[in-house]
Amino acid sequence: MNLTQGLYSSTIGKKILMAVTGIILFGFVVGHMLGNLQLYLGAEQLNAYADKLQSLGPLLWVIRAGLAFCVGVHVVAAVQLWLRNRASRPVRYRLFRPPEVDYAARTMMWSGPIILLFILYHLGHLTVGCLHHDFIRGDVYHNVVTTFRIWWVAGFYMLANLLLAVHLYHGLWSLFQTFGWDHPLFGRARRWIAIGFAVLIGAGNVSLPLAVLAGVVR
Ligand code: HEM
Repeated sequence: MNLTQGLYSSTIGKKILMAVTGIILFGFVVGHMLGNLQLYLGAEQLNAYADKLQSLGPLLWVIRAGLAFCVGVHVVAAVQLWLRNRASRPVRYRLFRPPEVDYAARTMMWSGPIILLFILYHLGHLTVGCLHHDFIRGDVYHNVVTTFRIWWVAGFYMLANLLLAVHLYHGLWSLFQTFGWDHPLFGRARRWIAIGFAVLIGAGNVSLPLAVLAGVVR
């Protein structure tokens, strides 16, 4: 077994893979949110931004393939770790079950699949347009605003983005642990950093459907 295979088959190797792919996906989520916030600057600005992204041409497809690869590795490693965890603990602990670790793991295992379903729906909805009732290719502002005028679609987006925030919170928290940044002195800071990022991203994303529903963005 070579070093790469050995590392991948170990529990810590899978955790490192989850952490590294998680950081890349986190970077995408932050960048995507900053791009989407240009909705507040008007149609011209948002559509020009979307145009610029499309003009990346083949590079855009390389980025898309890289992101899809990261999602795949992140999901496969998560499922493998979950199965390994279950197999090594057929009888659940009765006395010692750290509530924080247990809660984090449970939240990740249901928020993860829901976020994945949201992304598939979202791609069909705002990128391909086949799930949108009035899709105009190239007019991203129109596509987003007409989407969020429908209260239940706006509600679904808000729910998915709140779940994403919870997922990011636990993801960041576990990431610090994976990299060994879990010294008691750093414990509080670690929690507040994870909460801070999760709240900023959750608030930024949820504000968009809310702003359309409230008529702030028309
Ligand atoms: C309220 C929140 C969100 C809004 C308003 C939004 C809006 C959009 C829009 C308008 C597009 C199409 C862009 C274009 O065609 O140029 C898009 C694409 C995309 N979004 Fe979102 N998005 C949101 C949240 C998310 C979240 C939370 C994720 C992932 C966790 C996500 C992942 C993606 C992906 C992967 C694409 C495809 C990018 C591409 O390959 O071109 N989005 N989004």
